[in-house]
Amino acid sequence: MSKSPAELKAEILRLTREYAQLAHSNHRPGYETAAAAPDAAPRAPFVAGQTVVPYAGRVFDEEEVSAAVGATLDFWLTLGPEGDAFEHELAAFLQVKKTLVVNSGSSANLLAIAALTSPKLAERQLRPGDEVITVAAGFPTTVAPILQNGLVPVFIDNDPVTLNGRLEQLEGAFTPGKTKAVMMAHTLGNPFDLATATEFCRRHGLWLIEDNCDALGCRYDGRLTGTFGDLSTQSFYPPHHLTMGEGGAVNIVREPRLKVLVESFRDWGRDCWCPSGRDNTCNKRFGWQLGELPEGYDHKYIYSHFGYNLKPLDLQAAIGRQQLRKLPAFIQARMDNWQTLRAGLADLEEFFLFQLPTHATGWTPGGFTWDASGHRTECSWFGFMMLVRPGAPFSRRDFVRALDAAKIGNRMLFGGNLLRQPAFVSLRQQRPDAFRVVGEMTGADQIMRESVFVGTYPGLTPAMLAYLIETIHAFVRRH
Ligand SMILES: Cc1ncc(COP(=O)(O)O)c(C=O)c1O
Repeated sequence: MSKSPAELKAEILRLTREYAQLAHSNHRPGYETAAAAPDAAPRAPFVAGQTVVPYAGRVFDEEEVSAAVGATLDFWLTLGPEGDAFEHELAAFLQVKKTLVVNSGSSANLLAIAALTSPKLAERQLRPGDEVITVAAGFPTTVAPILQNGLVPVFIDNDPVTLNGRLEQLEGAFTPGKTKAVMMAHTLGNPFDLATATEFCRRHGLWLIEDNCDALGCRYDGRLTGTFGDLSTQSFYPPHHLTMGEGGAVNIVREPRLKVLVESFRDWGRDCWCPSGRDNTCNKRFGWQLGELPEGYDHKYIYSHFGYNLKPLDLQAAIGRQQLRKLPAFIQARMDNWQTLRAGLADLEEFFLFQLPTHATGWTPGGFTWDASGHRTECSWFGFMMLVRPGAPFSRRDFVRALDAAKIGNRMLFGGNLLRQPAFVSLRQQRPDAFRVVGEMTGADQIMRESVFVGTYPGLTPAMLAYLIETIHAFVRRH
């Protein structure tokens, strides 16, 4: 007798899991023991100098592969049931009002700013020429949406130790009547000074957008980052705390009215909020009169904004849901790996300036020492950041070349001082008043010249971490 679709699906998924256990054992979490995954093929043995030690990557097992195949068999394709579930689950994890899934972290940043340009926000609308305070060194698409929306980024400097914005410069960057928002990232999983930022924004009536793309699971005074501002954003590109290949999210922290705006900009600019495949959620699909359209014009095709289509596939959300289940272990692994590297490299402080959490004043094997503010940060690190000290007997270039030769993945702090990137240099030539810079960007320049980070991601095994520590020591010894 022929099999039913449900029986066939179950068989395909059983085989899929079997396949993934054999084919993808090297992508399993690095902290997993063989006993925890008895059905998985053993990892390829680590061979120093041959096995690549990535700075980041996809960490998954048969659950993600089976979720992806299951969603493909269901063939909903466009954002649907898996997307809904993922949005609820991530919002519950973060304890925010609502999460909207999108196709990248850059799209999330674009939407966060675009939503605040909605005329529906009346006197709080961001209008062309309004200023948004941001930080010079970091990832370009934290800043690009400000310019893309006709707003003026105002740059403050970075602190070279925390790598976050020097928030003591906020007041100097503020222009009454012009400054309307602050948008910045928690650099490499290090929460910026949220006490100062939230107080500043509250006092001046400004929007706060946290780019939480590199910091899912990090905490400030015990509370998760991404829950302090009005909006926050996530990236689910593979190096990030969880992945769905490409993907991102906008978190609506408190105000429900922002949800409708972000959703509208994400979904073509439409006024209607029906999910894909559903009609008439508002119960008056043909009962609206908006703009100068005739009474009863189909609400599905009424546009209150100049929007985009930035939705991911449902399949991506299916993968993301499995990753979410692993997220607490991933967050812990990043903390543990950072600690292992920090302890293993502690004798090299003379050559490297190691990143510190915001509000920390130093590191000891027993933990961090803290400033007098009373605030505390907990970092689930995106990477292990070192600045090569100017007096070191080697340059940053010598160091990254040695890491490359040893097959150790490494990265600089993304775009460095963004103001020195070709895009900003031409903008300054063509439209000098398109952005403003507050003072000297000495910290951002230092980060651009001296910084390099290696991995802390959950795919790293104890053997890889030991090799990393030994390779860096051997490099220093050679000099
Ligand atoms: C701080 C920050 N914001 C935004 C992004 C953009 O995310 P995506 O690559 O998903 O567009 C990144 C990328 O890594 C990032 O590091």
